[in-house]
Amino acid sequence: MHAHVILAAGQGTRMKSRLPKVLHPLLGKPMLAYAVDTALALEPQRLVVVVGHGAEQVVEALKAYPVEVAVQEEQLGTAHALLQAEPLLKDFPGPTLVTQGDTPLLRPETLRDLLERVEEGAGMALLTVELSDPTGYGRILRQGEEVLGNVEEKDASPEVKAIREVNAGAYAFDGFLFQALKEVRNENAAREYYLPDLIAIYRARGRRVVAVKGVVEEALGVNTREELARVEGVLLSALRREWMRKGVRMILPESIYLEASVELAPDVTLWPGVVLKGKTQIGEGAEVGPYAVLEDTLLEPGARVLAHTVAQGAVIGRGADAGPFARLRPGAVLREGVHVGNFVEVKNSLLHPGVKAGHLAYLGDAEVGEGTNIGAGVITANYDGKRKHRTFIGKGAFIGSNSVLVAPVRVGDGAMVGAGSVITHDVPEDALAVARERQRNLEGYARRKLEGD
Ligand code: UD1
Ligand code: CA
Repeated sequence: MHAHVILAAGQGTRMKSRLPKVLHPLLGKPMLAYAVDTALALEPQRLVVVVGHGAEQVVEALKAYPVEVAVQEEQLGTAHALLQAEPLLKDFPGPTLVTQGDTPLLRPETLRDLLERVEEGAGMALLTVELSDPTGYGRILRQGEEVLGNVEEKDASPEVKAIREVNAGAYAFDGFLFQALKEVRNENAAREYYLPDLIAIYRARGRRVVAVKGVVEEALGVNTREELARVEGVLLSALRREWMRKGVRMILPESIYLEASVELAPDVTLWPGVVLKGKTQIGEGAEVGPYAVLEDTLLEPGARVLAHTVAQGAVIGRGADAGPFARLRPGAVLREGVHVGNFVEVKNSLLHPGVKAGHLAYLGDAEVGEGTNIGAGVITANYDGKRKHRTFIGKGAFIGSNSVLVAPVRVGDGAMVGAGSVITHDVPEDALAVARERQRNLEGYARRKLEGD
């Protein structure tokens, strides 16, 4: 049984952003959500997030999570932030884990280690790592196995700055925590109440402080855009490795971006520059071509998306293909074997099996029957300036190039529309509709014109 407090009230000045630091996304998910998920994995009795800078936005981002919120009105330092959880946790007997909202790579197992040290009798346990470049982190002072204290970068002498063992910002405490916090002073370069000062306070009270050594990556904190990119890189390469282990082929994997919510089947092929976001799912043997962007899109087994296609909220059926340069917008459903080619845009439309729209068309709010051919440049004019209307095209129909189907309108099964027609009335089954000026040939006119008679 333990409580957990996540500190997330800081502004993140070094990010140079209007967005509170802890809300900056990593693979589409706010940094803070990683800390919350890690905390929840250990099933704490109580989970408190301390918010302050941008509190409203941060609370909004947390609304799906079972957390309690404490507010730090003024950001006076990490010890002061933790003290804001006291009204919520003062009757909690401990132990209490404390982590930071800007340290998204921490693993639950590591936190469990910290907890165990306190359960075994230590007053305080903290996570440390050895960094080749410790700049910006608190340096750990030791005497052999014993941890003596922590010195922040701003307060460090050149000798202390050379220490490479740093404080990772993850701690476990016994029930003495809130009493000890009240003894923290702000007599330092930043005039802040430093949480790591608890090391010295615990020791002065005769309580044991132990350090648990962790792996470098999980301690990476995010204070700058550069560090954000580095952490995202760590998450991305782990995700890519995992999918490759499960049978996905990635060509030039370092160029591929995907989010944790994406699902891939074995024998999927991803070409360089592919971007996969949200709830995108790709079935066995499907292929995504170079620089395609797929968001919340389903590719059924064997489907193919060719280069530079952008799809959002679309479904691409078995053996269907889209692109290069296709644009599939929400509600675009391409059934088995559909072909949608260059510069074709599809929105909120159902294309039944075998439909072909090879070039330069717009299909919006439409249903197109099995096997129908949509010529180059065909447009369903779905918007009358006020409302959207639907177009129905039957099975085995043929819509000639550059036709406009002015919705609401219906083209029957097996019907044909002559190229360049503007169709404003329904076309019956098996009929040919031609709605354009009939061609006239004026014999000899061109020659006379050129000769200037
Ligand atoms: C902190 C530690 C440092 C450690 C590093 C690890 C202190 C004083 N220093 O430094 O020893 O090496 O983390 O990443 O603790 N926060 C608040 N209220 C505040 C100030 C901060 O809630 O008044 C929150 C921030 O939102 C952030 C976390 O506490 O999530 C850490 O604050 P930050 O200013 O980033 O501390 P560091 O300088 O990185
Ligand atoms: Ca930090």
